[in-house]
Amino acid sequence: QLTTIAIQGAMDCEISALLKEMGEYKEEKHGGFFYYIGEIGELPVVVSKTDIGFVTAAASTTLLIEKYQPSIIINQGTAGGHDPKLFVYDLIIGNEVININGFRTGILEQGQGSDPTTWVHLDSLFPDENGVHPAPEVLTSDPKLVEIVLATASTYTYGKVVEGTIGSAEVWNREMDRIHWLRDTFNTSAEEMEAYPAGKIAKLNNIPYLSFRIISNSEVIDDDTEDLETAGIYCAEFAVEVVKAIGRNL
Ligand code: 5AD
Repeated sequence: QLTTIAIQGAMDCEISALLKEMGEYKEEKHGGFFYYIGEIGELPVVVSKTDIGFVTAAASTTLLIEKYQPSIIINQGTAGGHDPKLFVYDLIIGNEVININGFRTGILEQGQGSDPTTWVHLDSLFPDENGVHPAPEVLTSDPKLVEIVLATASTYTYGKVVEGTIGSAEVWNREMDRIHWLRDTFNTSAEEMEAYPAGKIAKLNNIPYLSFRIISNSEVIDDDTEDLETAGIYCAEFAVEVVKAIGRNL
């Protein structure tokens, strides 16, 4: 049966290739967010522009669900590399998506500065009934959807497609020690700002979720490229292929 597939991007460059593929579409605005209703490969789709960051990603995902009842939510777009084996334009499937936004700092006196390497993740603050501090919540992409992305990977020619962990925060980290601490602590492959909040709302509503991201910049490799525009287009073009593949698998 034909069910609506939702594809999210934060910025225009992350959705323009999807709109181009749809050709004709209807624009709707809810709660200040833009939604574009059309078809890709004869599948009904809604392209949702989340805008940048946690607040807008969560709110626009809630309205997306209320207004369009999508059967799948795909969050895609640009990201910064944490894994030195990932190069600009490589794609990471978010097998795991983790919130790297919320922490309690250690106690330091005036003049002692700030030491983010001692910060404790909010999910781990309070012990459970067994006195154990829980590990941070890990969201997962739907395994069947991940399989479809892997089967589509051969159509992607601008880099490799790998599975990994996407970390979301409203911080664009460019401090090497901080990036290494995040990767050591949370095993992140890349960072961005919407995959966790969108995935969290999808999970709360029991909607299969898929996240994949393209490296648009990386501090951990010997390449100063920072091209969100090109990367955004490449990722959305790949998203078109993924949606068509989902259509063939329904
Ligand atoms: N760190 C955080 N967010 C990034 N983005 C691209 N690169 C990075 C990075 N290194 C994405 C975010 C957000 C916008 C700033 O671009 O998801 O939407």
